[in-house]
Amino acid sequence: MTTSALRLAALSLTLSATAFAGPPDGKKAAEKEKIAALDLKGDAKRGKEAYKVCAACHLDSAAGRSDGTFPQLAGQHTTVLIKQVADIRAGVRENPVMHPFATTLVDPQELADVAAYIQSLPLPTDNQKGPGTELALGQKVYEKACVTCHGKKGEGDAVKFYPVLAGQHYAYVLRQSQEIRDGKRKNANADMVKAIKKLSDRELQAISDYLSRLSMPAKGAAAPAAPAPAAKN
Ligand code: HEC
Ligand code: HEC
Repeated sequence: MTTSALRLAALSLTLSATAFAGPPDGKKAAEKEKIAALDLKGDAKRGKEAYKVCAACHLDSAAGRSDGTFPQLAGQHTTVLIKQVADIRAGVRENPVMHPFATTLVDPQELADVAAYIQSLPLPTDNQKGPGTELALGQKVYEKACVTCHGKKGEGDAVKFYPVLAGQHYAYVLRQSQEIRDGKRKNANADMVKAIKKLSDRELQAISDYLSRLSMPAKGAAAPAAPAPAAKN
């Protein structure tokens, strides 16, 4: 066989393998992939390779962009990273921008690896803050409507898949909150939608601002030299 014929044969093999394995499709598939990935021990070294494609948007540091287009991932609970990527891969959380890249992960092991790598990164320190004009209002509404799930310090809950909100970019939290309120984020927790539905833009701005000034919990990310405990947090 000529080299090009060999290449063609290899390509069609790859294509049929991809078509067979494919990314998960739908809510059940996302749930299955999430459970499988959580059960595996992530390898941060292999995850570093898989993360390369993610860095184009989320940056090498996984600090995201301060204009709120791309969220900060470093410091987020591993469980949340895995669930959200599984949802995005399966189209349960609509993210057309990221979808083609999310599907480059070949299987739940690679998903666990990339999450372990992200968790091995240091906590970002210069997230985008809000205008700082209504912090007291933000704290008041946050503590009334959001604290039961996202925690007193915006630390979330790894076991329950509640994201860390502390220290996330202001514009990202605000945009997500509005999309959740307005029914545009399909995978949003139903009880949260109830809690957020009555809130005005002004209140959501104040909450997002308040959260942008809280520090991410140190426990959320392992030190770079300690990959082992990061795997199942
Ligand atoms: C082309 C840009 C792009 C690439 C590449 C990309 N993402 Fe994203 N990612 C986004 C955007 C945009 C969002 C926010 C989606 C939204 O607004 O709902 C996001 C959201 C996420 C979230 C959810 C964060 C949260 O707080 O809920 C995770 C986790 C994530 N990305 C991980 C990854 C991983 C892992 C990769 C690599 C396999 C990757 N992303 C590649 C654009 C990208
Ligand atoms: C009943 C529990 C619950 C309550 C109450 C709740 N949330 Fe959430 N929140 C969640 C869960 C779970 C997610 C992850 C999304 C998902 O997979 O459903 C989330 C995600 C988010 C996100 C997206 C974070 C990211 O990284 O993409 C924002 C922003 C948010 N919540 C803001 C709020 C605000 C503001 C309030 C109060 C008005 C609130 N939440 C109340 C459970 C809750």
